[in-house]
Amino acid sequence: MAISAEKQLEILLRLGKAISKDKDIDRLLPTIGELTRDILGADRCSIFIHDRLHNELWTKVAHGMEEVIRIPDNKGIAGFAFLSNEIQIVVDAYNDFRFNQEVDKKTNYQTKTILAVPLMGNSGEVLGVFQALNKNDGIFTNVDAELLELIANYVSAGFENALLVRELQSSRRKLIEKLSTAAEFKDEETSMHTKRVGHYSAIMGTHYGLDPDEVEKLRLTAPMHDAGKIGIEDMILKKPGKLTDEEFTRMKEHPMIGYELLFDPDDDLLIMAASIAKEHHEKWNGKGYPHGLKGEEISLYARITAIADVFDALTSERPYKRAWSVDEALDLLKKERGEHFDPVLVDIFLDRIDEVLEIYEQLKD
Ligand code: C2E
Ligand code: SIN
Ligand code: SIN
Ligand code: SIN
Ligand code: FE
Ligand code: FE
Repeated sequence: MAISAEKQLEILLRLGKAISKDKDIDRLLPTIGELTRDILGADRCSIFIHDRLHNELWTKVAHGMEEVIRIPDNKGIAGFAFLSNEIQIVVDAYNDFRFNQEVDKKTNYQTKTILAVPLMGNSGEVLGVFQALNKNDGIFTNVDAELLELIANYVSAGFENALLVRELQSSRRKLIEKLSTAAEFKDEETSMHTKRVGHYSAIMGTHYGLDPDEVEKLRLTAPMHDAGKIGIEDMILKKPGKLTDEEFTRMKEHPMIGYELLFDPDDDLLIMAASIAKEHHEKWNGKGYPHGLKGEEISLYARITAIADVFDALTSERPYKRAWSVDEALDLLKKERGEHFDPVLVDIFLDRIDEVLEIYEQLKD
């Protein structure tokens, strides 16, 4: 019995909706797994993605705890389907010598029947394996195999892009972290400083009501606010005492240096990072630098980062100052509420001081 064209269409529509709604592969894997499980009438369904670097297949399990499982790419039925690039149907897993019991042990599960279909990329490369376990009534049939193959072909096209995006995101994240610390090395601040500023900013962003994606972007970009200090002479940057007017004038160039260093019109993260770098020393009352912007002329992200940055600078030791106590720092924030800082954001920071202090303790220098 072949699958009717109508049924095929319905399946593709459901999958298409899931894929277009979410480009994040970590969320997409479990979603597609669950949809496919229902379509096949299986108990579990997972997509294994090949990791070329480690010769492994990994998957994200949605059932129960959110966990990543990794298996060698030459072991088990999944590995066999991957290496042979052929569909595998197993009717009695524990009596199949190829079956790898490790995964069952890890997930506390008893596999009986398996259907494993290779996931083909656009260029003919095998990207991974689509696997269904324990058909609810009986065993997996050729019709099930045909269905899963259809789904696999359909999702793999969209997938290759998502995989690429994932790789780019992780290398971008690393690059960004490196950039944030580059300025610190010069400044003799610790990498904890930039991390804390990211987390403090995320706390304010969250309770201001930003959506989680925006919060993550803020957590990633706020740490780069001082990237422009790379361009400032060590003589000034590491001076143990107070800066002369001339030295401070030079110092005030670090926001624009940072902006020019980071700005990239094709990259939304870098656009955000650049605007934070440029505006993190602007003040709510218009008396900041470099442009003397006032109130909401200053981007929300920069207004948030300014509070996180000053709180962290005050509570940290610098070549030119001792570390202040938390109470002393909070007194300054209150004093500067509506002057240096956005009053609404100061209130949020004070309201959430418990969360702030958790980060303060966790990420101590
Ligand atoms: P930073 O050390 O990261 O400080 C960031 C911001 O925290 C400062 O921005 C300021 O708003 C606040 N802040 C830090 N320490 C104090 C303090 O002791 N009292 C008060 N009221 N606020 C403080 P600002 O002033 O625009 O300075 C920007 C950067 O210029 C500083 O970054 C630091 O690298 C440098 N800097 C500022 N003043 C001095 C200084 O007297 N000596 C040296 N060597 N560097 C300085
Ligand atoms: C295997 O492919 O042999 C492991 C199957 C499983 O996920 O339990
Ligand atoms: C948040 O909810 O995003 C703040 C907590 C943190 O920064 O780790
Ligand atoms: C500048 O003003 O120097 C850079 C551009 C801007 O402020 O938006
Ligand atoms: Fe700064
Ligand atoms: Fe800073």
